[in-house]
Amino acid sequence: MLEKTTAVILAAGQGTRMKSALPKVMHAIAGRPLIHYPVRAALEAGCGEVVVVVGHGREHVEAYLAKAFGASGDGRVKTAVQKEQRGTGDAAKAGMDAVSAGAERVLIFYGDVPLLSADDVGAVAKKLDQEPTAAVALATCVVADPTGYGRIMRGANGDVVEIREHKDLKTDAERAIAEMNPGIYAASRAFVDEALRSLTPNNAQGEYYLTDIVSFAVAQGKRVVAVPSREAVIDGVNDRSQLAAADRAMVERIVHAWRVSGVTVRDGARIEDSVKVERDAVIESGVVLRGETRIGEGAVVDVGCVLTDVDVGPGVLLRPYTVGQSSVVRAKAQIGPFSHLRPDSDIGEEAHVGNFVETKKTKLERGAKANHLAYLGDGVVGEGANVGAGTIFCNYDGFQKHTTRIGKNAFIGSDSQLVAPVTIGDGAYVGTGTTVTKDVPADALALSRVRQENKEGYAAKLRARFKAAKEAAAAKK
Ligand code: UD1
Ligand code: CA
Repeated sequence: MLEKTTAVILAAGQGTRMKSALPKVMHAIAGRPLIHYPVRAALEAGCGEVVVVVGHGREHVEAYLAKAFGASGDGRVKTAVQKEQRGTGDAAKAGMDAVSAGAERVLIFYGDVPLLSADDVGAVAKKLDQEPTAAVALATCVVADPTGYGRIMRGANGDVVEIREHKDLKTDAERAIAEMNPGIYAASRAFVDEALRSLTPNNAQGEYYLTDIVSFAVAQGKRVVAVPSREAVIDGVNDRSQLAAADRAMVERIVHAWRVSGVTVRDGARIEDSVKVERDAVIESGVVLRGETRIGEGAVVDVGCVLTDVDVGPGVLLRPYTVGQSSVVRAKAQIGPFSHLRPDSDIGEEAHVGNFVETKKTKLERGAKANHLAYLGDGVVGEGANVGAGTIFCNYDGFQKHTTRIGKNAFIGSDSQLVAPVTIGDGAYVGTGTTVTKDVPADALALSRVRQENKEGYAAKLRARFKAAKEAAAAKK
């Protein structure tokens, strides 16, 4: 329905109030930069084209848009540059120059209003459709505290006649107007081009205001129609306190959506926008799920786990405070508490990784176990093998990383060091406290510790000797 509509999204401003080296729209909420959400809303609404007006920090914004929408947006997302930030009207003008020939209408909105949805912008476009005599359709919202926003000024007959910026309000009566401008406008392309040419910076901020297209329409005897919007669309982000509020609102929205789809999510869990969770999973409080994390059906992610880009299979149990990154945990495996899965760990079906075990670039085959205090870096642990407490894969010689391979059903005794590169054969047994420096053949026993000696009655003699030494030292002082 909106193939001939181009969305023009204004995102060239620095965002001075963010006090940041990063352009405002690259600050993230729920794991994605602010700019992601309005662009997605435009695409989901079905706009044939999306022009993002960039300026301040444009290389960051352009790189992000190419990465996030380059392929998925089928070339619909492009950018236009506003060289100098002279106001939203000037930004819109820069955007209009990039609108392609076939477009008949434009939907203009701001890049710093992340909570608006495809429905919110779609409703404004639809309103323009339904009112063929209107020159502009725009969203409006009545709020408890409109401070800082542009106000909707209505004439005696109730028609919208002007948007007046907060800084340009003169009287308390004007400041008391609760109907504000969320900043979503739809109009024909021809009207916008003409209206933007008429703008002047005669206002409190000395800027070209996009909002002045409203009084321009009225001066030409044209109608402006208002679309009442949900309050959520108003939350523009101008400083970090508003960034926090928008983040909270977005995470709440995401959590609500997962709950409704059949996932138990306790209060205080944080699920970012890019995460997927299957039904009957349980996400306990204090859990943070980030990036491309996937949680399989019925998996339990217990209190305090932090997972970034981790693929968790069905029926997995992640006990409290497991930290994982760029890893795979296969069906019914059990991890934690306090396990650390560093990048490229692959924990097999029904495998166990226990407390204070760190893995990196290591694959545990089905049913393998490393239950306590171990470092497993650059290795393969065969099916059903058992790695004892305190085992260390000595993978690094100061220059290169080497691989440790443990065969199927092998047993690594506690407190062993496996000096890589090294291979332990299937079914082999490494005695407790062994430093393995050579390969161990299948079914062999490897031992490297000194033989134990017991001296009967010697403990008492030893104590007497140490006691006398202590007394002699005290007597000298
Ligand atoms: C704007 C509206 C105000 C509305 C509010 C809603 C105007 C004049 N005012 O005010 O009526 O209530 O949004 O959130 O439009 N930008 C550029 N180039 C510029 C200036 C701004 O691209 O030269 C971009 C910014 O990056 C930002 C957006 O336009 O994403 C809005 O600019 P901002 O300065 O935040 O406008 P507000 O003061 O919030
Ligand atoms: Ca703003």
